[in-house]
Amino acid sequence: MEKVKRVKTRVWIVDNIVDKQQVYQQIREAAEWLRAGEVVAFPTETVYGLGADAANTAAVEKIFEAKGRPSDNPLIVHVASRAQAEAVATPLPPVAETLMERFWPGPLTLVLPKRAGAVSERVTAGLPTVAVRMPDHPLALALIEASGLALAAPSANRSGRPSPTTAAHVLADLNGRIAGVIDGGPTGIGVESTVLDCSGDVPVILRPGGVTKEMLSEVIGHVAEAAGGGDEQEAPKAPGMKYTHYAPKAPLWIVAGPPAFLQQLVDESRAEGKTVGVLTTEENKDRYAADVVLPCGTRRELTTVAHRLYDTLRRFDETNVDLIYSEAFPEEGLGAAIMNRLRKAAGGRVISG
Ligand code: TXA
Ligand code: MG
Repeated sequence: MEKVKRVKTRVWIVDNIVDKQQVYQQIREAAEWLRAGEVVAFPTETVYGLGADAANTAAVEKIFEAKGRPSDNPLIVHVASRAQAEAVATPLPPVAETLMERFWPGPLTLVLPKRAGAVSERVTAGLPTVAVRMPDHPLALALIEASGLALAAPSANRSGRPSPTTAAHVLADLNGRIAGVIDGGPTGIGVESTVLDCSGDVPVILRPGGVTKEMLSEVIGHVAEAAGGGDEQEAPKAPGMKYTHYAPKAPLWIVAGPPAFLQQLVDESRAEGKTVGVLTTEENKDRYAADVVLPCGTRRELTTVAHRLYDTLRRFDETNVDLIYSEAFPEEGLGAAIMNRLRKAAGGRVISG
């Protein structure tokens, strides 16, 4: 049953606009709505976020309502300056300062000791820590600056759905449930930020993302990974990691093996009368005979796979497939983030051959 009051969702189109003054007006209007306690979706370099004033509990509650998000899953606070970060987190561990210097603005979220009373308890779900990031996107930074607020912002999708990489994805999930969305065109990286817990002795990757383990290790040396790479099996440190995520409507299986093995699975399922989808890459797309074959970037450049992953998952929803078989990717570099999201989309189902 629909509990959220339906509203008319405003769309500010700022993609491809050369008129700086017009962009400024649009951002200023969106910022005013945020100051008035409304929720507004905006682009970042990773995925679209659904923002609200992090200090305003009623506004933050609207995020959870619009998304249908479990309330024990804390939100990332988005800032546009070091001063804003220090206003919500203190004391900053030295390792965090080093990482901010090197990777901010950028797709790295730092879990830090929180400053008492600086953000709503609903943002941190009662934890002693707060997750903070500075997005590397001109519209996101402009919006934060224009509002003068630290913005609590999870990905702007309905809970459980693939994260949105376009304003159209946001509207598909949240039209009528949020005050507005800033349409700044497709996002770049395509998977969410790396979440790094800096509140303990050794930094721990809670969620792999755009800043890879290799990149972090180069700067700060040893970096640990959450048990099971942030998988559901262990008690989750990033509370969000325990929920089903990123899932297309048809069940998805990851197939670790050569295309011929994946094709064999397709043939068996089709023999049972199933309509079968394949998530593949430019290299392999012509090697499959299935009902729907969608290439998702090229293996030569995993950034292209990350960039297209959520859109590809959503595009399967526009088809009539009963199930999807997906190729697997190498776990190094950005591949770790891609496989983390795919495993969640698959609910952990992997077939090896
Ligand atoms: O790229 C991103 O990070 C996007 C864009 C919009 O910035 N945001 C995003 O937010 O992915 P969300 O809410 O979908 O994911 C936040 C993750 C969740 O897994 C949550 O559990 C974790 O960060 N998290 C937030 N606060 C935390 C804390 N204090 N301790 C541990 N994990 C935390
Ligand atoms: Mg999310």
